[in-house]
Amino acid sequence: MLTGIKMVRPDNRIRFAWEIFVLVVIIWTIINIPVYVVFFSGSAEHSADITELILTIIFLIDILIRFNTAVIVKRKLITSRMEVLKIYLRGWFWIDLAATIPFWFILGGPGFAVTLQTLNLLRIARLLKLFRAVQTLRRARTSILLNPNIVRMVLLVFWILVTAHLVACGWIYIEGDIADVSNVKQYIMAFYWTITTLTTIGYGDITPKETIQMLYTICVEIIGAGLYGFIIGNIANLIANLDIARAQQREKIEKINTFMQYRNLPTDLQKKVNDYYNYIWETRRGYDETSVLHELPVSLKTNVSIFLNKEMIEKVPLFRGAGDALIRDIILNLEPVVYTPDDYVVKKGEMGYDMFFISRGTVDVVSEDEKIVYATLSAGHFFGEIALLLSTPRTATIKTREYCDLYRLNKDIFDRVLERYPVFAEKIKDMAEKRNMEIKSSK
Ligand code: CMP
Repeated sequence: MLTGIKMVRPDNRIRFAWEIFVLVVIIWTIINIPVYVVFFSGSAEHSADITELILTIIFLIDILIRFNTAVIVKRKLITSRMEVLKIYLRGWFWIDLAATIPFWFILGGPGFAVTLQTLNLLRIARLLKLFRAVQTLRRARTSILLNPNIVRMVLLVFWILVTAHLVACGWIYIEGDIADVSNVKQYIMAFYWTITTLTTIGYGDITPKETIQMLYTICVEIIGAGLYGFIIGNIANLIANLDIARAQQREKIEKINTFMQYRNLPTDLQKKVNDYYNYIWETRRGYDETSVLHELPVSLKTNVSIFLNKEMIEKVPLFRGAGDALIRDIILNLEPVVYTPDDYVVKKGEMGYDMFFISRGTVDVVSEDEKIVYATLSAGHFFGEIALLLSTPRTATIKTREYCDLYRLNKDIFDRVLERYPVFAEKIKDMAEKRNMEIKSSK
């Protein structure tokens, strides 16, 4: 009958939601079962309640779902039910099974002479699902698009609390019931003992008296020493990595500043360099688009470039109505360049080998002596096409008013694009002629 059911893909959303649900159940189990075992294991009124039954059903369904979920092994999707079964039976199945068996119902039935205490103690087997929780959280960690360091930090705190909870419950179990102390107070005392021992602080106000307590304390102290070092190391590492981009940027600026001071660069130039890095940080978090794209395979590079340049492309009237192929051809060949305020992007009379699209910022189109301003261009405009189209020297000077993010397109690509897309060529030629006339008429 099972063979009639289609195998569920591991990335199926409902499947993932189920896994999260099971995770919540496991966390609930991890918190509840130890408390239950240490405080109520001797009392019959708290035994075999409905939760036992519910847990068994949930964990059983979980096993059935796992039987029917394709798995990924070494990046290969395995959909054959037999294969999946084999893989499951070779490992996790036994842990899942042990956590699912309702010992209480089976061994508590007639014909078994098991004490109430042992029966309750067997519930600890449910804690085996803890390993599942580790696996699910690891999987969820990679699919959450939050800062991975923050996710790691949250998980670290979570695991510390789980460990402390289990150790505290273990201590209560070993310590036995303390007369005249409520369960809550006893738990708080045990938790306090756990934290002071695990963190190696050990005030010594709660001390082991029995041999078994001493042995337990020794184990916790050893775990504590290792765990403490691990936690401190991890947290230091996490904090250092929390904003790795900012840390790198700071380091870069510090190095450059040291260099500029060492080489006695004029203060205003040093200030300009610092301003430039601030601009790069504010506009792109210090990442240079070219180097980010450089590492990607072509298909991803195209998609990322299109996404990054979408806004700019939408602003350029010239591209309106242009086909996807043309936009792809151009986008893949655009080179981002940054200009600081009052920079000359092109100078009148020079030979030109590139044209530019403005993504951010404003530039002035001015005469050679900068006395006449022919036009002011901003985001979405382009310039530098005349020299390429007419093979003449630059007809005007282009000076930036502020920080400008431009995209440069070189002549070879420009020529190739014009050849391939005649409608686009026509539009750009019209524009160039109009501008050329304007300049000539204003002389
Ligand atoms: P090019 O001659 O290569 O270099 C200077 C650029 O200024 C020129 O190409 C045009 O893109 C641009 N330009 C010239 N005249 C004008 C104008 N009147 N309005 C807008 N842009 C212009």
